[in-house]
Amino acid sequence: MMYFPSHLSIAGVVMLATLQGVAAAPTAGLISLDVQQMGNRTMGFIGCSMAENVAQGYVAVGGQRMWGPYGTNGMVVQSWTDFNSTSWQLFDEQVVSYGKPTAVWVQLCIYAQNGVTYEEAKTLIANARQHAAPGATIYITGQPAYEAGRSCLRAGANGPELTERIAKQAAADTTQNVTYPGEFKLLKAEVLDDGCHANSAGQESLGQQALAFWG
Ligand SMILES: *[C@@H]1O[C@H](CO)[C@@H](O)[C@H](O)[C@H]1NC(C)=O
Ligand SMILES: *[C@@H]1O[C@H](CO)[C@@H](O)[C@H](O)[C@H]1NC(C)=O
Ligand SMILES: *[C@@H]1O[C@H](CO)[C@@H](O)[C@H](O)[C@H]1NC(C)=O
Repeated sequence: MMYFPSHLSIAGVVMLATLQGVAAAPTAGLISLDVQQMGNRTMGFIGCSMAENVAQGYVAVGGQRMWGPYGTNGMVVQSWTDFNSTSWQLFDEQVVSYGKPTAVWVQLCIYAQNGVTYEEAKTLIANARQHAAPGATIYITGQPAYEAGRSCLRAGANGPELTERIAKQAAADTTQNVTYPGEFKLLKAEVLDDGCHANSAGQESLGQQALAFWG
């Protein structure tokens, strides 16, 4: 019976099987390199394209703890309230590669029409716990904030502020045991024409902010 560490990727398993069929010698070195790289990213995240913007920048500035972007475009709060949603299935695909995360960042990202309630935020936190390793640290934030007079209208005129308020409410609620690391910020020159998303300078800035928040 062979033992595979939980963080060994499917790719690693396939590679091991393939190499064993060919030659024994190079296997150990290749596999341990693969495991090291995969074992590195022990922090997962949920959120929409705005979370991807953070993850893109985080990888670009050399962040090692959190996962890279994994295609969460459009995945607002209601995409994550169902424990078995396609969004959570996508999350679980990352878990196959990286292992169960020991920390998860919950980004509250919204569309104006549905917004977010505190009950929904609590459901996301509970779901994150269930999909993570036991005792995992849960971070919660809102969407990034913009300079005065600017907002992400897709999220509603006061949408980013609403997500921020609910994130802080969760962190202040001792029953939730979650950490609010601070507010992500985007300057005017760091935002695309849609008023929401980060350009490459904005992504880099968000990546640096994430590094400061959780390493
Ligand atoms: C992650 O891996 C890189 C190189 O693969 C290494 O430089 C870095 O120290 C590792 N980080 C951790 C936290 O293990
Ligand atoms: C999720 O799906 C699994 C299997 O597909 C099922 O066993 C489980 O009851 C579902 N959970 C919820 C909360 O729907
Ligand atoms: C609260 O979360 C921390 C991780 O951040 C964990 O170590 C601890 O066990 C949790 N406490 C409770 C009471 O669940």
